[in-house]
Amino acid sequence: MKQRVLVASNRGPISYEFATDGSLTGQRGGGGMIAGVMSGLAAVAPQADVTWICAALSDADRTAARQPDTGTRDPGGVPVRMLDIPPEIFGRAYNNVANSTLWFVHHLLFDTTNEPHFGLAFAPDWAAYLAYNEAFADALAEEAGPERQPGGVRMLVQDYHLSLVPRMLRERRGAARGTRIGYFWHIPWAPPDYYRILPLEVGRALLNGILGADHAGFHAARWASAFLDCCAAILGADVDRMGPASMGGAAIAGTVGRVRYRGHVTEVAVHPMGVDADALRARARGADVRAHMGTLGQAAGGRKLIVRVDRTELSKNIVRGLAAYRELLATRPQWRGRVMHLAFAYPSRAAVPEYRAYTERVRRLAQEITEEFGTADWNPLILEVKDDYPRSLAACALADVLVVNPIRDGMNLVAQEGPVLSQRGCALVLSREAGAAATLAADALLVNPFDVTETADAMHQALAMPDAERLRRSAGIAATAAAFRPARWLGDQLACLGT
Ligand code: F6P
Repeated sequence: MKQRVLVASNRGPISYEFATDGSLTGQRGGGGMIAGVMSGLAAVAPQADVTWICAALSDADRTAARQPDTGTRDPGGVPVRMLDIPPEIFGRAYNNVANSTLWFVHHLLFDTTNEPHFGLAFAPDWAAYLAYNEAFADALAEEAGPERQPGGVRMLVQDYHLSLVPRMLRERRGAARGTRIGYFWHIPWAPPDYYRILPLEVGRALLNGILGADHAGFHAARWASAFLDCCAAILGADVDRMGPASMGGAAIAGTVGRVRYRGHVTEVAVHPMGVDADALRARARGADVRAHMGTLGQAAGGRKLIVRVDRTELSKNIVRGLAAYRELLATRPQWRGRVMHLAFAYPSRAAVPEYRAYTERVRRLAQEITEEFGTADWNPLILEVKDDYPRSLAACALADVLVVNPIRDGMNLVAQEGPVLSQRGCALVLSREAGAAATLAADALLVNPFDVTETADAMHQALAMPDAERLRRSAGIAATAAAFRPARWLGDQLACLGT
């Protein structure tokens, strides 16, 4: 009998749009988490009976979700069940709680003089987050169904949108019915002093929610360790640290602790997510990517290329990255005319006002740099804000230097995709605050993301790096990224749940 595997995430593997004639067209859902889970599932799918539960994110998604045949649409070979959660509930849960509160807490993004402000207005937001999590727990419990029990059910609940789901499921299904619940947290975890910004009951509910899982995973030991700290400090849970984590060290992968709370034990582990190198390289051989390589190569005109590819996301630190490039050109005039910066900053979360303002700051600074240093025959910076996946792959393939300088990041896949795709070998300037710094430290140039001068120095070092060293480091990063391929990431979690 096939193993029943249920995946749950806010964003799903397919998203719909209305064509001009009003019909629905589906395309693959965006983002690293989706790509990783899809690629991981491809490896287990033949032996498993998988369903992916996600939220309808747009009107087109809602229309698709209401059609009786939606459950049969499966872009990556996996049946999808899209939940048509009322827009008011979805908007409050996704924008106000997940993205404006939890994301900000765990990326340490609050300007605490002014934000957050947990007044009366927060109550309906939190109620919506509860209702939205309930909708997922209901759907998961229904999909698991008692008739499935003989083979058991493995649930893989993803990310900060669904923190309450594991506990809700445990309460619905009990522990003794063959259900094993895995939870994966894809972003950083805040230290207890910062986590305490959350109202006490909210902070406790989120931890209690995750501790309903049998297994809780993080991309890096730092985040797992901070989670254990919060379980002890905020819940008073019984925390048992294991292996390197107990010595304050950094396990790259493996179990780092167990938390006993309300009679249940949750195993806490590190599972870094790398990339499917073969699939990525195969995609980059596509005609569309090659065409972009031609165009970008022509624009560069033989100059060295510094590349960045991000969503315009507050944690990605694009403004300081551009400021570092400006400082590089100002303090090391030898690079003027010999280098070009391709900065791809794609739209993200336009419903959150801080994101709209940040996008404007990125545009303004890019324009200032062009005006300050550009000449008749040299454009120092190309900023592209329209999402174009093949063009991003082309830029990574051509990059001499890749800049990934987030304030904080759960893992970061671009830092790994760049060297995998690179043709000449690319030097990686990487924030020490990205989860990927734990796996890539030996070969990347690590920087403090707040230190613009240090970042400019690292850009210089990367540009001046001898070819042999750049190739060696780039190959090292590519090998590490491939070793932690998504199939391993997902397979290890399923193994921890007991297959
Ligand atoms: O990249 C981290 C992450 O949490 C992913 O796991 C998740 O898909 C994404 O961010 C959420 O972003 P969005 O709000 O665009 O779906």
